[in-house]
Amino acid sequence: MLIRKPADLRYSDVTPKDTYLNRRRFMATVPAALGVLALPRRAEAVPLTFSKSSYTVDEKLTPKDDATHYNNYYEFGTQKEEPARYANTLVTSPWTVDVGGLVNKPQKYDLASVIKVAPLEERIYRMRCVEAWSMVIPWIGFPLSALLKQVEPNARAKYVAFQTLHDPKQMPRGRYAGIDLPYVEGLRLDEAMHPLALLAVGVYGETLPNQNGAPIRLVVPWKYGFKGIKSIVKITLTDKEPPSTWNITNAREYGFYSNVNPQVDHPRWTQASERRIGELFKRKTLPFNGYADQVASLYSGIDLRKFY
Ligand code: MTE
Repeated sequence: MLIRKPADLRYSDVTPKDTYLNRRRFMATVPAALGVLALPRRAEAVPLTFSKSSYTVDEKLTPKDDATHYNNYYEFGTQKEEPARYANTLVTSPWTVDVGGLVNKPQKYDLASVIKVAPLEERIYRMRCVEAWSMVIPWIGFPLSALLKQVEPNARAKYVAFQTLHDPKQMPRGRYAGIDLPYVEGLRLDEAMHPLALLAVGVYGETLPNQNGAPIRLVVPWKYGFKGIKSIVKITLTDKEPPSTWNITNAREYGFYSNVNPQVDHPRWTQASERRIGELFKRKTLPFNGYADQVASLYSGIDLRKFY
């Protein structure tokens, strides 16, 4: 097995789409040929009750099969098709989300209580990965701000830190991921309170598949996809900028802000254009991933080349 050290790690190590599709077609024929059920057990997809939100884009949805089989979830493998194959070892019930730090009312939520924080909505968001591909995803969730309001951040709270579960027993491939685990991320408090910032518990009408971050993950559509930390167990209000996994791994290439910015290239590739998964031709990348009208004011007076 190729064991990657952080220095060798190429975040852009994208499996070409044809390769992964062909591999999947081959895999699909194997169980039939052997006459056995060889596919891994998947977490049960339960329908969720939600209303449609006005936070939506009128663009063609990415096929569910692509969104659930072309993933980044390094705890379950660094190749795009691996999380769908291996994340079935993640135990998502019971689940607790510990929300604390600089708050008046710290609280431990189980999943049933966290999804009652606010009514669930379906929001169709454009998603842009730092690897220069994009998707359009129908998330189901509730605003992160609703959860933060419940715990009452105090006057010293300036940032929100997030942490993924880390259990090497459930995530044995994590030791080959080349990143420090647990996966961690962060937002400024005003970014976290923005109505677009979503805690997602479902996608395509059902509970999240494990590979997409079950049972609860962050979605921040104006930032690169790696800010969307999966399978969250801890949320901490702090007064200091929290660490974020890709910034720890390679600070020159990945900053804390990570706003989608066609004018600031990644050191190794352009961010001016992107390939929408399922499309042939590249399209231009939009500032803040097309959400500039809603979020640009959060960054007025900030040099976004310096604070990438
Ligand atoms: N969260 C954890 N815990 N581990 C990861 O490796 N990858 C990030 C983000 N959240 C990642 C994670 C990256 S790089 C991306 S692009 C998105 O999840 C991918 O989300 P998706 O697989 O649902 O498209």
